[in-house]
Amino acid sequence: MSFKNKVIYQIYPKSFQDSNGDGWGDIQGIISRLDYLKELGVDCLWLNPMTLSPQKDNGYDVANYREIDPRYGTMADFESLIKEANRRDMTIMLDMVFNHTSTEHEWFQRALKGEKKYQDYYFFRDGSPDKPITNWQSKFGGPAWQYVPSINKWYLHLYDVTQADLNWDNPEVRRECADIVRFWMNKGVKGFRFDVVNLISKANVEEDDPNLFDGRQFYTDGPHVHEYLKELNENSFGKDPSIITVGEMSSTSIENCVKYAGFDAHELSMVFSFHHLKVDYHNQKKWELQEVDFPLLKSILNSWQIGMQENDAWNALFLNNHDQPRSVSRFGDDQVYRKESATMLATIMHLMRGTPYIFQGEEIGMTNAYFHHIDDYVDVESRNYFSIMKEEGKKEEEIYAILQERSRDNARTPMQWTREENAGFTSGKPWLKVNANYNEINVEEERMDEHSILAYYKQLIQLRKKMPLIQDGIYEPLYENHPSLFAYKRKLKDEEIIVLANFYKENIHLDEAFDGYRMLLSNVDKEIYNQQLGPYEVAVLIKE
Ligand code: GLC
Repeated sequence: MSFKNKVIYQIYPKSFQDSNGDGWGDIQGIISRLDYLKELGVDCLWLNPMTLSPQKDNGYDVANYREIDPRYGTMADFESLIKEANRRDMTIMLDMVFNHTSTEHEWFQRALKGEKKYQDYYFFRDGSPDKPITNWQSKFGGPAWQYVPSINKWYLHLYDVTQADLNWDNPEVRRECADIVRFWMNKGVKGFRFDVVNLISKANVEEDDPNLFDGRQFYTDGPHVHEYLKELNENSFGKDPSIITVGEMSSTSIENCVKYAGFDAHELSMVFSFHHLKVDYHNQKKWELQEVDFPLLKSILNSWQIGMQENDAWNALFLNNHDQPRSVSRFGDDQVYRKESATMLATIMHLMRGTPYIFQGEEIGMTNAYFHHIDDYVDVESRNYFSIMKEEGKKEEEIYAILQERSRDNARTPMQWTREENAGFTSGKPWLKVNANYNEINVEEERMDEHSILAYYKQLIQLRKKMPLIQDGIYEPLYENHPSLFAYKRKLKDEEIIVLANFYKENIHLDEAFDGYRMLLSNVDKEIYNQQLGPYEVAVLIKE
């Protein structure tokens, strides 16, 4: 399996590095930072969408799948990015947004002009203008159906009103998507991330959700999803075994993920699942805060590790991405113990069974943005929910407390390179404000310190490369009922490591001495394991 020893780095191109002073990250900017990524030691770069888009949802509203949005550069720039990355033994993974297109896409525009062929690419339904086809809700708030007076029809959009869902039951749509994947394969792209791909097969778009929920039971892991993925695999990336694929799976199950990412399934290499990132949702609602439910977090991570392992399937490992708040702010302490908690969280992820993903800035311990003015928020979801929460009667103070924890903009602030103005991201005005803490938290500082978070990430990446045990070992949870310790063992033949992570500030004392083991890695530079774990301390022991 070509992906077991790899580490993947996610670049949010809009916020990574601007090269021309327009405040917007671009491809030349990425090229200028490839040496940094090489030095970090990652193998593959996943780039969020850079294709032509009105940017209502930051590129996840695609208007043309084969054209680079000029704000990022040109196709020639992209080709040189592939070449320059390959020259440094790194590959490029692109984001394929196939559940929906922008309403500015030619297909949708032709559908609006009445072309039946293109109406069948989407879910258009006749209905009366005052009553949506079903009670389904958009994931960004409000109804999931939009009425178009000029043709007297409604169309389905599970996300923003400008993101119309594609009808995968139409073989033409499936053929178009396979064609697009092949187009990028021909350019030398060696990885694909498929956006919300477990939503592509809808059971019945005309049925109301009887539970008055958002309708997800009708389209999550839908009736033909496995068949459609096998077909896409066969008609595109499956032809090249060196290609790595990952599917983003919304509200999925282990049972389905075993099918998506089973070694013999001929669907995808691995999956992103999100249950472990909802353990601080009150009543399972993103916009209601609660403390992290640590026992639940442990049990979810453990059951996904074991469930996938027992069925020969593969997880993507991550706590951060462009849709999630920063993990150090969420699960750690982003003030006093920022370094300890960032490195502890990285350790538990990188040493699990699966392929680790690093989201830009995570490797230097970037934190949430803590914006407290609505004008500072750009994300469509955050802005929609700001209005929704206001209508519900919440006070602004309370709404900001929620956005500061939950907004996707927390992850999207520009990469912090230096102490210069705008953190060295741009010489112009950044499209989203830079986090105010860039003076202390930036690549330049981290690089000068051999005990930095960055240096620790490099060590973790090298360990995976060196140790087949980390790539292939069996996962076994330890101390499952301990209230503040996250622990597990990895085993391969006679080799063994034990990971002991204190998830909190309070010290932990362990009775077990682990005789016959020595310290392999410590995030507090401890040389000998002494049965004590300080605040957010992690100890990795290896059997002698
Ligand atoms: C995925 C993307 C997210 C986007 C959504 C709709 O969840 O990661 O950024 O808004 O799909 O495309």
